[in-house]
Amino acid sequence: RQRRHMPNLMSRVLFGLALVLAFSGRASAQEAYPSRPITLIVSYAAGGPSDSIARLLGESMSTTLGQQIVIENVAGAGGTTGAARAAKSEANGYTLLIHHVALAAGATLYPKLAYDTLNDFEGIGLVNSGPFVLTAKKGLEVSDIKGAIEYIRTNKDKVTMGNAGVGSGSHLCNMLIQSTLGVKVSEVAYRGTGPAMNDLVGGQIDMLCDQSTNAMSQIQGGTIKAFAVTSTTRMDQLKDLPTMQEAGLPGFEVTQWHALYVPKGTPKPVIDKLHAALEKAFTDQKILARFADFGTVLFPAEARGPAATKAKLASEVDKWGKAIKAAGFEPK
Ligand code: MLT
Repeated sequence: RQRRHMPNLMSRVLFGLALVLAFSGRASAQEAYPSRPITLIVSYAAGGPSDSIARLLGESMSTTLGQQIVIENVAGAGGTTGAARAAKSEANGYTLLIHHVALAAGATLYPKLAYDTLNDFEGIGLVNSGPFVLTAKKGLEVSDIKGAIEYIRTNKDKVTMGNAGVGSGSHLCNMLIQSTLGVKVSEVAYRGTGPAMNDLVGGQIDMLCDQSTNAMSQIQGGTIKAFAVTSTTRMDQLKDLPTMQEAGLPGFEVTQWHALYVPKGTPKPVIDKLHAALEKAFTDQKILARFADFGTVLFPAEARGPAATKAKLASEVDKWGKAIKAAGFEPK
């Protein structure tokens, strides 16, 4: 009778040992995280606003984590190509995604997405929030927002507005301008507003509604014209510019907000480590000074962690779902 129980007992002991080894292996793998370079996917071209924010964070977080953070610009389809790449990557903390309002808008604009916007990502943290500025090439013979609105109305068949693809922040801003004014203009799609801004400065396109992050230095350098901001209040850095609402566009508001994500299934200790490194970046004086230059702000410290990120994404999916339908924009 005793002998019959022996193999059973032995196998239980061995099974227990295997479990202990497996768990301690997993724990030490997580303790060791990160043990190799991390990729941070930016869904737009290098040199643009998302890229600028990513590079600043990447530098600071790589110092904290003791591993290089390599920026990979995976542009295309309004920012959904990069998001798809991140969603499909291994959930081990070695692939991060920085994304913005377009991650939310894409859920409505692209019915055949290769990922589930609300369920395929875990939030690490909310990064920054700031307005867009409606700008134009220097040669456009318009000097203020009233003139710009009039110009768009009367030249709707020839005016060109840049964007970073359907669903990008610049595209959403253009969409609201057109639906509010009841016109349809020609939009020129780029892989990001970095190259779109180059073309605006070069005079190849007429207008661009871009994040202050990317537009500020050009406005201050006098290489482009600026007409209005898309926030509900004026910006300290561009006090002379009215808001779109002041300019007579009722309810007009577009805010950019970046957040950091990892694929769903990433272990909690890894998320916690990344979140702590992100929070550390927010104490970096270099980052705070650059954000101030860009006219972009941090989210409140008590409401920018992993849970707040998921909640913000869900509320923005809802907000832009309604706004896109109200604007009468047809999903592709
Ligand atoms: C970019 O980095 O190019 C932007 O974030 C694009 C946009 O959303 O307009």
